[in-house]
Amino acid sequence: MIKVEKLVKSFHGQPVLRGVDLEVPQGSITIIIGRSGGGKSVFLKHLIGLLRPDSGRVVIDGTDVTHLEGGELDRIRQRYGVVFQGGALFDSQTCGENVAFPLREKTRLSGREVAQRVEASLAQVGLEGVGRKYPAEISGGMRKRVAIALALVTEPQIVFFDEPTTGLDPILVNSIHHLIRDLHRRHGFTAIMVSHEIPEIFEIADTVAMLHEGRIVEHGPPDAIQRSANPVVQQFIRGEPEGH
Ligand SMILES: Nc1ncnc2c1ncn2[C@@H]1O[C@H](COP(=O)(O)OP(=O)(O)OP(=O)(O)O)[C@@H](O)[C@H]1O
Ligand SMILES: [Mg+2]
Repeated sequence: MIKVEKLVKSFHGQPVLRGVDLEVPQGSITIIIGRSGGGKSVFLKHLIGLLRPDSGRVVIDGTDVTHLEGGELDRIRQRYGVVFQGGALFDSQTCGENVAFPLREKTRLSGREVAQRVEASLAQVGLEGVGRKYPAEISGGMRKRVAIALALVTEPQIVFFDEPTTGLDPILVNSIHHLIRDLHRRHGFTAIMVSHEIPEIFEIADTVAMLHEGRIVEHGPPDAIQRSANPVVQQFIRGEPEGH
């Protein structure tokens, strides 16, 4: 369903992506791992159409989305849900207004239908009745769940998660992972997630892909990645510094 071919991107002459190839099957959970600053968020932004590559392409269901603009790009984006790194919410709006935002932007649902969808979406992340609160009034873990409700409220076919659990305690990390797994089972979306949570990611991913020095250096089911003979992969999953 998603096919990335030879994606190359530099910023100010500094290469970040040096030819990324990746295929993501429909309905699977693919988790991207790799060192901080290695280009994981930059890679996701190319998939979403927030950044354009210097060369290479992103093909979604047979459509090359790399150079789409305006209405065509919007139509593709309607099929996406995105949980940004940091779980960005508008602080000046209630959680309910935040979750309602994509429905107001992308659909013609009535006010009452929007309210029902928002409440249902908050309920499925365990936040019934939280819609009236402002982001500053709830905990960090709850804000992450609001961000997930927001990403899923339009019932997207593809959901991007950029480090949805960073900064949470281990119990909350676990509960967010279970939540993503359950929602994935229920809705069957294709998920692409960036995460540093080792070893937890091995329990929820169908495929793990490691981005290193601008390329996917290893890619496969969790057990194959854990058994990888590639020293770069082994160092990363053991939490060792590079070159030891
Ligand atoms: N818009 C931009 N303009 C210039 N440089 C950028 C831009 N976005 C990212 N970069 C650079 O690209 C590199 C990769 O950044 P990126 O945010 O993708 O890393 P990451 O793998 O997501 O790291 P982390 O795990 O810390 O989130 C960094 O050196 C960053 O400074
Ligand atoms: Mg990042």
